Amino acid sequence: MGAVLQVRNLAIDVAARRVLSDASFTVGAGDKVGLVGRNGAGKTSLLKVLAGDDDAAGGIVLRRGTLGYVPQNPRPRAEAAAGLAQGASITYTALSHILSGRGLDRAAARLAELHRGLEHDHSLASIELYSTAEERYRLDGGYSSESDARRLATGLGLRLDRVDLPLSVLSGGERRRVELARVLFADADLLLLDEPTNHLDSDAKTWLMDFLRDYRGAVIVVSHDLGLLDTSITRVLHLDAGRLIEYRGTYSQYQQARRLEERRLTSLTHRQEAEIKRLSLLAEVMRRQTEKRAKQAKSIFTRVERMKSQRVV
Ligand SMILES: Nc1ncnc2c1ncn2[C@@H]1O[C@H](COP(=O)(O)OP(=O)(O)O)[C@@H](O)[C@H]1O
Ligand SMILES: [Mg+2]
Repeated sequence: MGAVLQVRNLAIDVAARRVLSDASFTVGAGDKVGLVGRNGAGKTSLLKVLAGDDDAAGGIVLRRGTLGYVPQNPRPRAEAAAGLAQGASITYTALSHILSGRGLDRAAARLAELHRGLEHDHSLASIELYSTAEERYRLDGGYSSESDARRLATGLGLRLDRVDLPLSVLSGGERRRVELARVLFADADLLLLDEPTNHLDSDAKTWLMDFLRDYRGAVIVVSHDLGLLDTSITRVLHLDAGRLIEYRGTYSQYQQARRLEERRLTSLTHRQEAEIKRLSLLAEVMRRQTEKRAKQAKSIFTRVERMKSQRVV
């Protein structure tokens, strides 16, 4: 399979301010991409646009295949939708929500309802109804999916006994983990994960990164824990001052390249400062000599001013 995401000349505005200009990159099937940049650089804004939740100010975003998106701050829309489902049925548990990632929640909820019905109604008809539904569920791989879903939830640090509770009784932090589990369970071709390790303890962080390492689909992840993914990362996109710079290779190769780049800039700055100082002194001396020299000094001052304005910092 080819690219799951193609981005060309993308521009993004947030509150009438350009946070990204002229970004182009391609994500292939199964690629693991780290998106980095300081706070406020625009990572969240970029993922929102890639997910189709926000409009771009210019350029093209082409996605192919299915998408899984975990925003940094849960969308009110998703929360509201989950709330509606909870209201409709008490059987809408955390497990149901995870299973809904593959549309399996309805079958599971129906089965649970029929099972509860058996407690009051021991008639042959309802026993038969239940066993038919149960067989169908088993044949459809419902149980193995359930155990996959439980594994995901507990991997992310949710206690096993919380998985069967209605979503509504879970804490915000637990719901966030359930939502992350639902997106991972859906097995999309492209995952966009915005700081998914926030609020996870260190075991869950490691578990998540191991999961992503073996993930079948492509992943773009913003995280302070990219070191845990290191050699699985095929590319790092660095967002800095409105520009997206692409580094090919693992995360530690990216860090190495950044260190070299910073060292190069530092030594360039040192050399520039030395040159500015040397020329300023020279011009200062020449200024007090002959008229001709004073004139030369003036042009040197102009050069120094130009160098100062073009400083690399
Ligand atoms: N709703 C908003 N209204 C105004 N400015 C915003 C809003 N959301 C984000 N910003 C600004 O947009 C810029 C990019 O933010 P964001 O994409 O959240 O960056 P990051 O995820 O890299 O920390 C920041 O300067 C931030 O202050
Ligand atoms: Mg962010």
